[in-house]
Amino acid sequence: MTSLLETPVPTAAESLPLRRGAARVLLANWTGSSTVPSRSLYPHQWSWDSAFIAIGLRHLSVRRAQRELETLMGAQWADGRVPHIVFNPAVALDAYFPSPDFWRTSRDGAGAGAPAGTETSGIVQPPVHALATWLVHLADPEDSRRRGFLRRMYGRLAAWHDYLTGPRNLGGGGLAAMVHPWEPGMDNSPSWDGPLRRVEPAAPHSYRRADLQHGAPTERPTDLDYGRYVRLAADYRNGGYADAGREHAFAIEDPCVNALLIVSEHTLARIAEEAGADPEPHRIRAKHLTDVLVDRLWSPADGMFLCRDLVNDELIAERGVAGLVPLVVPGLPQDVVDALVHTATGPRFRLGKVPMAPSYDLTGAAFDPSRYWRGPAWFNTNWLLERGLRQYGHGSAADALRSAMLGAAGTSGFAEYVDPFTGQAHGSRNFGWTAALTLDLLAAQEAGSPATAGAGLQ
Ligand code: SER
Repeated sequence: MTSLLETPVPTAAESLPLRRGAARVLLANWTGSSTVPSRSLYPHQWSWDSAFIAIGLRHLSVRRAQRELETLMGAQWADGRVPHIVFNPAVALDAYFPSPDFWRTSRDGAGAGAPAGTETSGIVQPPVHALATWLVHLADPEDSRRRGFLRRMYGRLAAWHDYLTGPRNLGGGGLAAMVHPWEPGMDNSPSWDGPLRRVEPAAPHSYRRADLQHGAPTERPTDLDYGRYVRLAADYRNGGYADAGREHAFAIEDPCVNALLIVSEHTLARIAEEAGADPEPHRIRAKHLTDVLVDRLWSPADGMFLCRDLVNDELIAERGVAGLVPLVVPGLPQDVVDALVHTATGPRFRLGKVPMAPSYDLTGAAFDPSRYWRGPAWFNTNWLLERGLRQYGHGSAADALRSAMLGAAGTSGFAEYVDPFTGQAHGSRNFGWTAALTLDLLAAQEAGSPATAGAGLQ
């Protein structure tokens, strides 16, 4: 695989301004116990953001990275779910919508085990947490052991995965299902357009969007999508956040979510060993989920994974970057790996020709280079692709992607997402995981990461 974008690796001195800029973002977004994704647009703690942030924060302060994850897991529900937002009570209610008085989890989630003393959302986000925990441990294993970091995290992480593979096994095949477009983290992906058509939007006057005070309407989800998000969240809340015994108007299996679950399950085996628990069940589950992922979500005709709509039990014929992320999963069949790399570098995603992989098929009718998850390139998904490429022996393609990401992070002011062709900044600036993953890529670049490093495990 060749790249038009190969650039010489900068020296540590040349990278210093970028490193300092990224560190400044993480210091400015730190609240004392966790990191906000954005001071303006997202002023609380977000679940998968915190996991990616911890992965970068470990290069600045291992203690803060541990704290980031422990704060999040401290808000875990008794049923094992890790909420997608942990609200900061010091932040004004109107700073973000839906606010704690919408979710009302300490009251309406009590039956599902929501904490009484902390307000959270009632939905989840992708399980990057065991991976992040392991990477934070590796940054200073002695300090981690001295503080019992993995021993404290292990039980919570195991309960989190049990929730995803238990109550969230709505399709019955073993994969974790997501019941709201905010859960897979790619809110307005064109993959949800079909499933969302069945959802009656909430009345526009019944809520007020806060995101448009900080983000351009052309770069954010539409009002129609928001109305549907609000309806689904309110219905889930009104059902006491129960997963079983009800019909979900929106229920999907997503390849990115489940790939991250598999990688996290592999790392949970390592964590179990360190914590004095049995790693074997995690290895067995990781292998089983890998087989099920291929069985249920692989589309040979598309050369990538697709999402499954559980309402009609059909694969969704939209090609988003979520379908390439399983490249991060170890032990995939070789023909699947080859096809994924072919698709990533082909006309739909053009990796190696454009600086970073778009979030959605460049040739798709719904492609939009600036609107949230309908086309722009995001740093977390590209960080995962970089690891996946490296894992499967495409070291020079991974190096080129890393250089491109570092370039785009700096020139965009650590943007939330960028135009996949030009790198032009969109969304929030000084965005937490963009800065954090920049630090992580810089550290790997300096360490000269080996061409076949195990994805996620080191
Ligand atoms: N991404 C959602 C938002 O834009 C929530 O997780 O607010």
